[in-house]
Amino acid sequence: MSPELRRLTHEVPPALEIEHLHVSYDGMRALSDVSMVVPEGSVVALLGPNGAGKSTLLRSVSGLVRPESGRIAVHGVRVDRRPAHATARLGVVHVPEGRGIFPSLSVQENLEMCIYAVGHDVDPVGGAVARFPVLGQRLKLPAGSLSGGEQQMLALARALLSRPRLLMVDEISMGLAPLIVQQLFDALRERAKAGTSLLLVEQYIDAALELADYVYVLEKGRIVDVGEPADVRRGGLASAYLGS
Ligand SMILES: Nc1ncnc2c1ncn2[C@@H]1O[C@H](COP(=O)(O)OP(=O)(O)O)[C@@H](O)[C@H]1O
Ligand SMILES: [Mg+2]
Repeated sequence: MSPELRRLTHEVPPALEIEHLHVSYDGMRALSDVSMVVPEGSVVALLGPNGAGKSTLLRSVSGLVRPESGRIAVHGVRVDRRPAHATARLGVVHVPEGRGIFPSLSVQENLEMCIYAVGHDVDPVGGAVARFPVLGQRLKLPAGSLSGGEQQMLALARALLSRPRLLMVDEISMGLAPLIVQQLFDALRERAKAGTSLLLVEQYIDAALELADYVYVLEKGRIVDVGEPADVRRGGLASAYLGS
């Protein structure tokens, strides 16, 4: 473990701790010796070019991909040998790349389905519409007919309704207009302020750096740098991807 990681780990108990993670697909290495910490209550941005292994890392945490070796712990509980549903019970919520919604169901049905995860004391539609008012005008429409930004709002609203302790969001800003990205990040910022730990995979670097406490850079399956956003802005993180 690097001195930087050790410092992060010991200052705050980690929401997520990954140690020496190796993941392969059919013998092809996707992650090599990846170690990472998301201190509880903090926002970590995971940056890196296409194919670096960012989505694979999130899938490994949520239990959708079985690591070859290494250790993943969520709030001190080892999860790398658990099925995804058991990890979800620890409060790990994953908004996957693309649209984490059911396109043929209506917006309202997408939200109401959350009741099974969060309990009947929650008003899923009211909560989502308060956060993203535009969804209130779309309730009866198939979710797949919404604009890309509205679909991401729906995906994020669903994720937030399930009261995550560790929320992992994969490229939510992909292909969206800056104004929409701002709205999504406002919702993430609000949740971070309320104490939820966030792991954000992003290509929209400015928005991610604005929100993040710590930044990791992944390239070709390896962590090549870790630091604070100011280090990235100063060009302190060595990465062609970041333009330094
Ligand atoms: N289901 C899969 N089967 C085989 N190879 C995969 C699969 N998913 C991803 N890969 C490969 O693993 C590497 C990392 O992919 P990914 O985690 O999607 O990267 P990123 O999210 O950073 O773009 C890439 O080389 C990709 O082609
Ligand atoms: Mg990806």
